[in-house]
Amino acid sequence: MVRFGVNVFLFLAAVVASFTTRAAKLPSSFKRCHKSDPHFDDCLVVNIEGAIRSLKNGAPELGLDSFEPLLISSLIIGEGSGPVNVQQNFKNVKLHGLTGSIVSKHKARLDENILYAESVTPMLRLEADYDMKGRVLLLPIYGEGPCNVTLEQLRNGAIRDCLGLFSGRIGAPGSTSAISDEDEGFVCGVNTKINHTLYGEPFERKGRTFLKFVNYTVTLRPDKVQFHFANLFNGDDRLGDEINRVMNDNWDVVFTDVREGYEKSFGLIFKDLANRVFTRVPLKDIFLDFTKCHRKESNFGRCLAAAVENAVGQLDKQIKEVGLPNMEPLEVPALRIGAGTGPVAFEQNYKDVLVSGFTKLRCSAAAMDFAAKTLNMTVTIPQLKLEFAYEISGKILLLPIYGKGPGVITLDELEQVLRFTFEEFEKKGKKHFRVVDSKLVMNPKLIQIKLDNLFNGDKALGDNINQVMNDNWAEVFADVKPSYEEAFAKIFLSIFNNLLAKVPISEIFGED
Ligand SMILES: *[C@@H]1O[C@H](CO)[C@@H](O)[C@H](O)[C@H]1NC(C)=O
Ligand SMILES: *[C@@H]1O[C@H](CO)[C@@H](O)[C@H](O)[C@H]1NC(C)=O
Ligand SMILES: *[C@@H]1O[C@H](CO)[C@@H](O)[C@H](O)[C@H]1NC(C)=O
Ligand SMILES: *[C@@H]1O[C@H](CO)[C@@H](O)[C@H](O)[C@H]1NC(C)=O
Repeated sequence: MVRFGVNVFLFLAAVVASFTTRAAKLPSSFKRCHKSDPHFDDCLVVNIEGAIRSLKNGAPELGLDSFEPLLISSLIIGEGSGPVNVQQNFKNVKLHGLTGSIVSKHKARLDENILYAESVTPMLRLEADYDMKGRVLLLPIYGEGPCNVTLEQLRNGAIRDCLGLFSGRIGAPGSTSAISDEDEGFVCGVNTKINHTLYGEPFERKGRTFLKFVNYTVTLRPDKVQFHFANLFNGDDRLGDEINRVMNDNWDVVFTDVREGYEKSFGLIFKDLANRVFTRVPLKDIFLDFTKCHRKESNFGRCLAAAVENAVGQLDKQIKEVGLPNMEPLEVPALRIGAGTGPVAFEQNYKDVLVSGFTKLRCSAAAMDFAAKTLNMTVTIPQLKLEFAYEISGKILLLPIYGKGPGVITLDELEQVLRFTFEEFEKKGKKHFRVVDSKLVMNPKLIQIKLDNLFNGDKALGDNINQVMNDNWAEVFADVKPSYEEAFAKIFLSIFNNLLAKVPISEIFGED
């Protein structure tokens, strides 16, 4: 099933980006919500607002320019069927205020690919060059020039009260944050309320699922609209001021008559913006989810192997809700590899280690024994790269080696056979696992070592010993292999335990 939550990106920029077919990533300023988060909906409400707000600065990763203002090259609002017998042609439109939107509600009908959101925009202002010729409220109107249509609040200070109220909500995670319409406090003054309904169609590209919105309906309810059309009647200010005044005094009938036109236009603009994100970023990167496997399903082992790949593959960002760290790269403050008993006769101390490559792992087998509480897995990592600061002094392959500096070790086609042993404990009435033992066997196909600044920077000597180590990598690694295996087994144990402490067994493997 295709899973997704809400339209994070209703309002993406209207400046056409140069598209590539390469799948894009969400900007890091957009926080993602994980389906395993017990407060998924609240998370979305908060994160959508955050994403919209962050678009003040645009999103270069998606080729989007700033949203404040949003630039729209042209916009036509057709005649109404009532008092507005004039077509409004707008050019060089600047839409101000969208990034101040507050998302009040979100709902999704996942299996039908329908998203729904309600938002409140305290002030929405359209500045543009207009031209028009026709009648409004039976009065003739014509002209061209700059104009200003503001959908706004009535009382000064109302917005601040409103925002204060909302920051209280954001500051209280876990509370029921989607404030309902019936909540009097929510309306707090006068704003433009917008309901968004998005109908999507999933499609596949290069094996990944994306969503394309085919229909985006907007309903728009401003609490007040103010018009200012400059230079009406070829600059006859007296007549111009008069008709502006009449329109403003009767803003409700005037706006209501053409509201549908505004709604259709906004729907098209928002649809275009939303599609810029959704047709470029795969769904699984917008709404995080883990594949779940039920312990009783017939292909449990196969499902588990796929689930491990799926979960680790998502860890190119931290998933705080379930206690999982960013593993691309994984930051390890210190790594100590004990001296070997053969050619590597010294202890290696690495600091500030960045380990990259885990998220690309393939899991070829996984087996869980619930009675014995063991989990075995075989995974292969195409390339694991360790970057670090080293300091060493000792002998390697009988040659003296010492120095201090940056280094890189890469392990190609690294097979890891992992074994976890669990015990069960109870937390808040739910059963959890805790890893009490982890064993790891590492079999790389090739290792490359590069230690810079050996021998206090003597390049000739340094290059020489790097060469010797690389020529004899298998022998060098064999001597320190148990120490590497133990170090990484401990790292995996601690990462896995963070997840297990937060997520009960029944949520990972179903009820027994
Ligand atoms: C539009 O109207 C607002 C409020 O009246 C005003 O602050 C703003 O300067 C106007 N913008 C233009 C371009 O006239
Ligand atoms: C949005 O939908 C809600 C609930 O269906 C409704 O009460 C409200 O009037 C709608 N608002 C707009 C702006 O259409
Ligand atoms: C979009 O959805 C609305 C509401 O269901 C519907 O009335 C309209 O016909 C749809 N438009 C398109 C182009 O599918
Ligand atoms: C995991 O591997 C160990 C050692 O090979 C074996 O004894 C155990 O039965 C395996 N567990 C599962 C669930 O396959």
